[in-house]
Amino acid sequence: MVPLRLRPYRLSDERIVRRARDDLRADDFELLYRFDEFAGWTDYLAHFRQARFGHGLNEGEVPSMLLCAELDGNYVGQVSVRLATEEYVTPVGGHVGVGVLAPYRRQGLASEMLRQALIVLRAEGVRDAVVTCHDTNFASRAAIEASGARFDGVFSFTEGAPPDMRRYVVAPPTSSLWLRPLALDDEGSARAAHAEILPEDSHFLLQWSPEQAWPSYLARLRDEQLGRDLAPDRVRGTFVAAVVGDELVGRASIRFSLNEFLAAWGGHIGYAVIAAHRRRGYASEILRQALVVARAEGVERATMTCFDDNVGSSSVIERAGGVLESIGATHEWPERMRRYFIM
Ligand SMILES: CC(C)(COP(=O)(O)OP(=O)(O)OC[C@H]1O[C@@H](n2cnc3c(N)ncnc32)[C@H](O)[C@@H]1OP(=O)(O)O)[C@@H](O)C(=O)NCCC(=O)NCCS
Repeated sequence: MVPLRLRPYRLSDERIVRRARDDLRADDFELLYRFDEFAGWTDYLAHFRQARFGHGLNEGEVPSMLLCAELDGNYVGQVSVRLATEEYVTPVGGHVGVGVLAPYRRQGLASEMLRQALIVLRAEGVRDAVVTCHDTNFASRAAIEASGARFDGVFSFTEGAPPDMRRYVVAPPTSSLWLRPLALDDEGSARAAHAEILPEDSHFLLQWSPEQAWPSYLARLRDEQLGRDLAPDRVRGTFVAAVVGDELVGRASIRFSLNEFLAAWGGHIGYAVIAAHRRRGYASEILRQALVVARAEGVERATMTCFDDNVGSSSVIERAGGVLESIGATHEWPERMRRYFIM
């Protein structure tokens, strides 16, 4: 697996980004779309921080993330992820745009960037991702085709001109695990998973009670994902179902920041796997994908916790590169707890 990371841009990235923008223009690739309409880098970043939540959008723009791709601390490219589908823009521009800087090409990075972008998109609820590229951009075509994309035809970028673009659709995998928001028809299987896991002193659904109507629970999860009306003791985060095909096998809860409670217990990412699906590597895969989502939302160093005797969970964290920071009790949690971080 390529140790590539997608993260939001920082103010301090301005110099490298501007240089990359000039380099990529040689390939007719506009790295910073409509940059000249903004007062500068600070203003541009502020726009994207808002655009992630669907605020301050220009016409035709959808909620989106502009992510910097880093490999071993080097800036290697950029991914733009459009988090919603728009009637006119999506069929032309697609949900994902990838650019790799010239010195880093021919190493499979575009495929890896696309793979991670698809994880972010699916966790947001975009199931079938549209990806487009120029007909003659063979490197891009190869990366898209390697992601299992289905060719969906050619079209012309400019009305009336001959077709010069290709459109693909990438559906979720049918036989491997992927993360997506809980849906209305998950109610039965999620309730059953919750009831099943309770005797283990774990929760499948978080902040949920059996009396709560399922649609209102889902609406609250969506509010938390967008940071809307957060209670003082809650942080922005997302709750995703882990499914194989369409079967619910587990869940992840991904927090994009920590409060005092989460710093002591819970950390950035929590997960659970339904008993019948354990020991198949699912928790490890859930954590791998959850880390991609967390990083894209700005988590740079993920804190993870588990009880000292939870051998399954500590192995999963260690396999994901978790570094043990401490083992001990806190006044709130008298049991011994392991705290790890993952860079
Ligand atoms: C902990 C949990 C998430 C593990 O899920 P899983 O899908 O079985 O984990 P994986 O298959 O990815 O396990 C990876 C490795 O962890 C270790 N492991 C997992 N479960 C284990 C167990 N019960 N005992 C010992 N080792 C275990 C193994 O080394 C395993 O690899 P292997 O099967 O090749 O030997 C699952 O048991 C669970 O949901 N428990 C209840 C909720 C919970 O504890 N969540 C974590 C809170 S911190």
